[in-house]
Amino acid sequence: MVNITVTTPDKIDLSDVIIVVGISEDGDILSYIEKDSRLNQILKKINSFGQTHLNNIKKYGKSMTLGVNLDDTPITILLVGIGESRKLNSDRVRHIGGLVSLKCKELNFSKINVLKFFSEPSFFEPLIEGLILSQYEFNNFKEKSSKDELDLSFFDNCNINIITDGSEHGAELAQINKSKVICDGVFYSRNLANSPPNHINPDTLASSAKSLASIKNISVQILEQSQIKEMGMNGIISVGKGSENEPKVIIVNYNNSNANDKPILLVGKAVTFDTGGISIKPSDRMDEMKFDKSGGCTVLGIMKAIGNLALPLNVVAIIPAVENMPSGSSYRPGDIVRMYNGKTVEVLNTDAEGRMILADALAYGITKYSPKCVIDFATLTGACIIALGTNVAGIIGNNDKLIQQLKVSGITTGEKIWQLPLYEEFFDLIKSNVASIKNIGGRTGGTITAAAFLSNFVENVPWAHFDIAGTAWTQDGTSEKSYNPKGATGFGTRLILNFLENNRDSF
Ligand code: BES
Ligand code: MN
Ligand code: ZN
Repeated sequence: MVNITVTTPDKIDLSDVIIVVGISEDGDILSYIEKDSRLNQILKKINSFGQTHLNNIKKYGKSMTLGVNLDDTPITILLVGIGESRKLNSDRVRHIGGLVSLKCKELNFSKINVLKFFSEPSFFEPLIEGLILSQYEFNNFKEKSSKDELDLSFFDNCNINIITDGSEHGAELAQINKSKVICDGVFYSRNLANSPPNHINPDTLASSAKSLASIKNISVQILEQSQIKEMGMNGIISVGKGSENEPKVIIVNYNNSNANDKPILLVGKAVTFDTGGISIKPSDRMDEMKFDKSGGCTVLGIMKAIGNLALPLNVVAIIPAVENMPSGSSYRPGDIVRMYNGKTVEVLNTDAEGRMILADALAYGITKYSPKCVIDFATLTGACIIALGTNVAGIIGNNDKLIQQLKVSGITTGEKIWQLPLYEEFFDLIKSNVASIKNIGGRTGGTITAAAFLSNFVENVPWAHFDIAGTAWTQDGTSEKSYNPKGATGFGTRLILNFLENNRDSF
C-alpha cells in the first residue's frame, strides 16, 4: 500500500520530486504557501506563464506539467485545475486526488508532494481516499503476473507527501492511517468481485472469508449445504441446486462490545455467477454476471475494515453464496419453495434468484442474532439501472431514521443513493394464488417489488436494502471516475464504515 505522510513546506526535499499545485479559477492561494519563500518562487514562475494559458488549466479536472528551475535545481510541477473554489466539494476533492495520483503514476514519479489546496478540514479525508483508491488495478490474471491465483496483498512503492501548514498534523496522520484501512477494505471487496467465476465460487469465496478470522475479534463460520438444508433455508438450496458448486452460507462475526449490545446485521448477495438458471439470460454481456456477488464482496470488505479499525461494536455479516446455473437438477419456474421463516414462494422466474437467497439469510440472521438493525447489499434488479442509472444506488427500507443516517453517510463518502418508496400497493404485485408470495411482480416497479418481497422476511426490525445493480461495477465505462477505475467499485464499503462510526449508539 502506498505510503502517505504530511510535512510542512520548509521540509520539502526539492531533489528528484514533483510538486502538485492545485489552482482555482478565482486565484485563491492558501496563505501557508505564500509565506514559504521557495513555494512563493514557484507560484511566481507559474504566474509568469501567461494568464490565458493558465485559465484553461484552472478548470476543474484539467492538468499540465511544467519543468521549473529553482535555485538551479530542476523540478517538475504538476498543475491541477480545481475549478471555482465555491464549487469545490468533497467528491470533487476525491476526484482531483485520484487524478493527481494517476498522473504521477503515468509520469513515473514515486516521490510526490501535494500542496494542500483547501482549508476545509473535512476535505482531507476525500483527498487521501482519491489518492489511494485511484491506484487500484486488477491484474492478477494478466499473462505477466507470476501467479494466477487470488493476490490480495497490495504493494506500491509510492511515497506521497501532503504539504500542509502543520497545524493539524496529528489529526491528519490519524486520518491517513484510517483511510488506508478503509481503502484496503474497498480493495479487498473489488478484488473478490473482479475475480472470474471459474476462480470464485461459493467454496473459494468462503475460503477467502475464512482468512478474515486472523483479524482480532473476528470469527468465521461456514454453513455447508447439508446444514443449510437441515435448517430449512430452502431458498438458498433451491437456487444452488443447478450447480456442481454447492451453496455455502458465510457468517462473519465481529465482537468488540459487551455481549448484551445487540449486533448490527449486514447481509450481502453473493451469486458467484448468474446465468438466470432455467429462465436463462441472453448471452450478450452475460460475463458481467460474475459481478452478481458484489453485495457479498462489499460486506466482506466492510468486515475486514471494521476489524482492522477495531470499531467498538458487535456486527454479524451473513453472505449466502450460490451459483445460479441451468441443469437437470435446477429449480424451475412453477416450483413452490418453503423458506426458512415458513412462508412459501411460488417461483415464476429462476432469474429472480437474489431475493430467494437474501430472504433466507435475512430471516435466519434476524431469528438467530436479534439485531438492532439490518442492512443488505445486492445487485438485485436490472430495473434499478433503468430507474437510477449507473452512478446511483437504490435504497429502500422500513425505517426513516436509519435511511436518513445512511443518506448522510452517502453524501460524505460520495456514494450516491436515492430512496424508492415501499408503498403498500407494491405488496399486491407479488401476491400468489398458490403460495404466500411469488418471486416476480411484473414489469413495473421491479426494484420495489423485489424489496417488497424481501420485507416479508424482515418484518419489523429496522432495515435498509441497497440495490447496487448499477453501481457495483463500471458498466460500459459510464461510471468510471479517477477513483473508480474499470471493474468492481466496492460501492457501499466506505458508506457503511462511515455510518457505523457516526451512528454506533443510535439503535
Ligand atoms: N443479478 C440480476 C440483476 C442484474 C441485472 C444486476 C443486470 C446487474 C445488471 C438479478 O438476479 C436478475 O436477474 N434480476 C431480474 C429480475 C426479474 C427476473 C424479475 C432482472 O432484473 O431482470
Ligand atoms: Mn438473476
Ligand atoms: Zn442475480
